[in-house]
Amino acid sequence: TYVVTENCIRCKYTDCVEVCPVDCFHEGPNFLVIDPVECIDCSLCAPECPADAIYADDQLPPGQAHFLELNAELAEVWPVIAEARLPLGEADHWVDRGEKLQYLER
Ligand code: SF4
Ligand code: F3S
Repeated sequence: TYVVTENCIRCKYTDCVEVCPVDCFHEGPNFLVIDPVECIDCSLCAPECPADAIYADDQLPPGQAHFLELNAELAEVWPVIAEARLPLGEADHWVDRGEKLQYLER
């Protein structure tokens, strides 16, 4: 499966959802996750993310391994998002700032 990692938090650009052929992105208040059961590993979403937040589960960057479980957990409770929306208002301010897990809203 592919995994949305920390740099999506407080950005949520949503370019990723436009290209997913199986609509497996789920949306929370300030983060998106991928449903690992639905993801077909097509890899289309990763290059679309302006925040470079999406990785294959076997290529997660250092310190991001726990996002695999977090995606699976939140995909079960958050609704599907199938169309792009406007990014969060301060997305460009928060992108690449690191240490964003503390801001995750559920
Ligand atoms: Fe969707 Fe493909 Fe990305 Fe999986 S890898 S989330 S199927 S676009
Ligand atoms: Fe998040 Fe990147 Fe998609 S910031 S919403 S994973 S385009």
